[in-house]
Amino acid sequence: MADTENTQVLVRALPEGQLRVTDFEVTHAAMPVPGDGEVLCQTLAIGIGAGQRAGLQGSASYAGAPTTGIVMGGQAVARVARSNADTFAVGDLVLCASGWQAWSVHKATALTRVPDIDDPAAYVGVLGTNGLTAYFGLLAVGEPRAGDTVVVSAAAGSVGHLVGQIARLHGTRVVGITGSDAKGRRLVEELGFDAFVNHRDAGFRAALKAACPAGIDVYFDNTGGDILGAALFRMNEFGRIVCCGVVSQYDTSSPAPGPKGVPGLLVNKRLRMQGFLVFDYAGRYAQARATMRGWMQAGRLTAWQDEVMGLENAPAGFVDLLAGGNVGTRVVRVTR
Ligand SMILES: NC(=O)c1ccc[n+]([C@@H]2O[C@H](COP(=O)([O-])OP(=O)(O)OC[C@H]3O[C@@H](n4cnc5c(N)ncnc54)[C@H](OP(=O)(O)O)[C@@H]3O)[C@@H](O)[C@H]2O)c1
Repeated sequence: MADTENTQVLVRALPEGQLRVTDFEVTHAAMPVPGDGEVLCQTLAIGIGAGQRAGLQGSASYAGAPTTGIVMGGQAVARVARSNADTFAVGDLVLCASGWQAWSVHKATALTRVPDIDDPAAYVGVLGTNGLTAYFGLLAVGEPRAGDTVVVSAAAGSVGHLVGQIARLHGTRVVGITGSDAKGRRLVEELGFDAFVNHRDAGFRAALKAACPAGIDVYFDNTGGDILGAALFRMNEFGRIVCCGVVSQYDTSSPAPGPKGVPGLLVNKRLRMQGFLVFDYAGRYAQARATMRGWMQAGRLTAWQDEVMGLENAPAGFVDLLAGGNVGTRVVRVTR
């Protein structure tokens, strides 16, 4: 496709039940033209995360009401192709809310500059929303202390694999909950998790108990549902439950109600169960990114990136992610 047209992935239908590739359609629109103070951006790489399914479900209030006929939302790393603003020049790298399209126009004030690092796609992963979510959710909300047992669900996903490593860097024992033994073994062997438990195993609750002989001090909840229910009963007194997301209840039109034990267990064990949105910490992003880059350069933090090639494959990549097909951050590579 020549660059006189803009390839876009539109939301064709709001999902009924599980998300399907046919809920999206790939189209071609006219190239957008930047006005005064605006910048034309060429998308390089888009991050896909489970939370975007909540947006299509209408359960992410910050994303507004879901609708059809629009470009699927999402954040991307992009290269400035034309600039009508003093603050950006052609060739600069930026983070922008491009959505799933090859080209987009933004007010210069809505862009975040991305440094020219080895792979700028890190800005939709470890140095982007999900990395920042792992960092602030664990450290500011979970408040881990050396010697604690930290459990994280969706542990091999984008947020989860970073939560576990950051928790290890703070002297805790880390147990990852994931949906396959192969993923769990990689968490232990490659990232230094202390143990893993497979939530698909019939004996999941007993296995979680065995993996946490001293109970759980911090549970970082990416899933909600039965996994949250199981973790609640293993929490130690004064433990902290970090409510980050509810991926087990996104890909459905009939989400299950919350778990048993709330609020009774919270009272008796004096637990703190706290939700958060990463945007709450926007004023501290630069400091967190610098810290995480330092850990990466020192070989103490590994970012897994799981790539899909081409915008037209983004819908299949999203459906597959919700079925557990990803390891680390799923990135759609649009162009280099
Ligand atoms: N609070 C915030 O500001 C904020 C910001 C960003 C993201 N989030 C949330 O963080 C969570 C993780 O996002 P992410 O982008 O890291 O996820 P992700 O990489 O997209 O991972 C999705 C993973 O979730 C697991 N999963 C899917 N269905 C499941 C089910 N029914 N039960 C248990 N696990 C299931 C699968 O792993 P397995 O194969 O291991 O099951 C899948 O690979 C999401 O809930 C998201 O909404 C919150």
